[in-house]
Amino acid sequence: MAAGDPEARVAELRSTIEYHNERYFSLDSPEIADAEYDALVGELRQLEAEHPELVTADSPTQRVGGATSGLFSPVRHRVPMMSLDNAFDGLELGAWADRLARQLPDVDLGTLDFSAEPKVDGVAMSLTYVDGRFTQAATRGDGVTGEDVTANVATISVVPDVLDPAAGPYPHHLEVRGEVYLPTSAFEQMNKRQEDAGERLFVNPRNAAAGSLRQKDPIVTATRPLSFWAYQIGEVDGLDAEDAAGTDAGGVRWPPDRQSDALALLRRAGLPVSPDARTVLGIAAAVERCAELAEHRHDLPYEIDGVVLKVDDLALHDRLGATSRAPRWAIAFKFPPEERTTTLLDIEVSIGRTGRATPFARLEPVFVGGSTVGLATLHNEDQVRAKDVRPGDTVIVRKAGDVIPEVVGPVARPAGGPRRRAPWRFPTKCPSCGMPLVRLEGESDTYCTNIDCPQQRVQRIVHFASRSAMDIEGLGEQRVVQLVGTGLIGDPADLYALGPGSLAGLDKMGELSEHNLLTAIAESKERPLSRLLVALGIRHVGPTGARALARAFASLERLRAVGAETLAATAGVGPVIAASVAEFFDNPANAAVLERLAVSGVSLVEPGVPPEGLAAEAAEAAGPLAGRSVVVTGTLAGYSREEAEAAIVARGGTSPGSVSKRTYAVVVGDAPGAAKVTKAEKLGVPMLSPEDFEPLLATGELGAGTAPDPPG
Ligand code: IVH
Repeated sequence: MAAGDPEARVAELRSTIEYHNERYFSLDSPEIADAEYDALVGELRQLEAEHPELVTADSPTQRVGGATSGLFSPVRHRVPMMSLDNAFDGLELGAWADRLARQLPDVDLGTLDFSAEPKVDGVAMSLTYVDGRFTQAATRGDGVTGEDVTANVATISVVPDVLDPAAGPYPHHLEVRGEVYLPTSAFEQMNKRQEDAGERLFVNPRNAAAGSLRQKDPIVTATRPLSFWAYQIGEVDGLDAEDAAGTDAGGVRWPPDRQSDALALLRRAGLPVSPDARTVLGIAAAVERCAELAEHRHDLPYEIDGVVLKVDDLALHDRLGATSRAPRWAIAFKFPPEERTTTLLDIEVSIGRTGRATPFARLEPVFVGGSTVGLATLHNEDQVRAKDVRPGDTVIVRKAGDVIPEVVGPVARPAGGPRRRAPWRFPTKCPSCGMPLVRLEGESDTYCTNIDCPQQRVQRIVHFASRSAMDIEGLGEQRVVQLVGTGLIGDPADLYALGPGSLAGLDKMGELSEHNLLTAIAESKERPLSRLLVALGIRHVGPTGARALARAFASLERLRAVGAETLAATAGVGPVIAASVAEFFDNPANAAVLERLAVSGVSLVEPGVPPEGLAAEAAEAAGPLAGRSVVVTGTLAGYSREEAEAAIVARGGTSPGSVSKRTYAVVVGDAPGAAKVTKAEKLGVPMLSPEDFEPLLATGELGAGTAPDPPG
């Protein structure tokens, strides 16, 4: 678009935005990620600011997005349901604060209260209660006219039919606004059901919630685990002075004069209000709360896409007023996007160490969730089918927190030739070894069953060398591919047969790299048995199970000697792990590898455990600290003495009041007892700093051994 033709660009943006409004609000089938939609609106707003003569009353920037689907009867909102202005970074939040300061010259923003509320990603809803009884639910629609979805909302269990009489009396007519949403776990379950039924998956919880509300048959809605957060009081009528005087819910009165009081009143009435909404003092604390929620967004059991900041004092709302689409007393701070659209170049299959064949997408690289993503998982054959993604599609890519990036679904398909548009088919042969891929009846995964498959070998060795296993630095996937490809190694035991000069001539392998790699391999011989057990890649044996096994039996020798029954009776092990371990040891190929590891000098014992193991104690107490005694001295931030001891006991440990040679570790807090520290030093008991306490609780391991300096 010619930079010199703003009028044409404005027209184009408007029609594009209208199109996406329709897809999002009426059809529940967005074609672009929210962030891209926001960018279009942002560009339009910018152009309109630069060219005020181009602003029209019906521009999407002047209206609230949604329209109605026509499926339900219209409902007029007597108090319009407005939208919110967005801030995408600290600078834009600052600009909002500046506007507040200009409009409220007599108010100090440093001491003004704000209500900071999670911006739940769902569907805005207006609930009407008449004399405390639920009578109507309506969507926002275009802000003035929404749709009557009473029958559907009545199926949401957390929406009360009757407000708690104990917190009344209530205004004769009370409109409560909030968000209907799907908790993340409910969304995942719902998509699992869709997948099992061979139905199409929902792209995100917001979409699934909207689709569930749009059902003509409330019985269908009732099967969807929808929830609701109340966040605002809308229209209030019939609250005369007499009522108001008598309406005192726990010290807060109707009508509220603060947003925080409104939330308290709604909560007391029995409506769900997010526990993550906070009242904060001053704009700086409000900004800080935004950062805090951004960092912890994935710890919440529901999806949020930002934080809504509201001036808490409702009297100031009247002074600040609103534009045609949004109030000036609130702003939505939007988090950086975790969803983006890009082109799906191809679908390929990767083979893991167990032979599992996982389909993944090769993408036109796109920056999302803080990094550039070129590959994204598609999980399994059923998921590819349920998502119906095909090479050439424009797809939504999602990267939430630490989660592996995934392709959510297609949004547009080019009207190309028939080849491009054919549904993708799972390959029948392993891309690495060419042997047939097998999918067992009733299972969702497909496997390459050839134990000699080169890619499986590579992945088994990569896993063996990984951080949580033998932790061999410098032995990443590329290097393993090279070593396996040149025939230097074929299994983990071969690593220990490599000697000086054996890597000479390999690409990117100088003398120093060779020395470093060989040193790292040699050092890994000393890893405890629990790590070796993880490294072997025994099915179902993760770090916790491995630790339980190693502590109960102390050595590989004993572990192999006891049968599946004894294993299964061990605390923290159980029949599934036991059977898998026994099967692993019964396999002659595995036995041969173990034999070679032993000959190479790889340690096969668990240090710190008596040779006969801890089976008896461990049987009593499972958990990462099973059978271990941890002494705490001094104070630990966040824990009282009792809480620290309880945390140790809850993980299977004991926490006696004095140090002995049986003490596993001493956690040294602030102002520790001199006697305990001296004794620990004398006996050589490891001392941990307060920062090491939580990792110790989580893993039972001593970590990097960050013993604090002995206190003076
Ligand atoms: S207040 C005029 N509070 O965000 C004030 N909205 O982008 C209107 N939302 O339409 C809304 N959490 O659907 C408010 N704590 C919260 C919210 C919230 C989510 C949604 C709501 C609104 C949209 C605006």
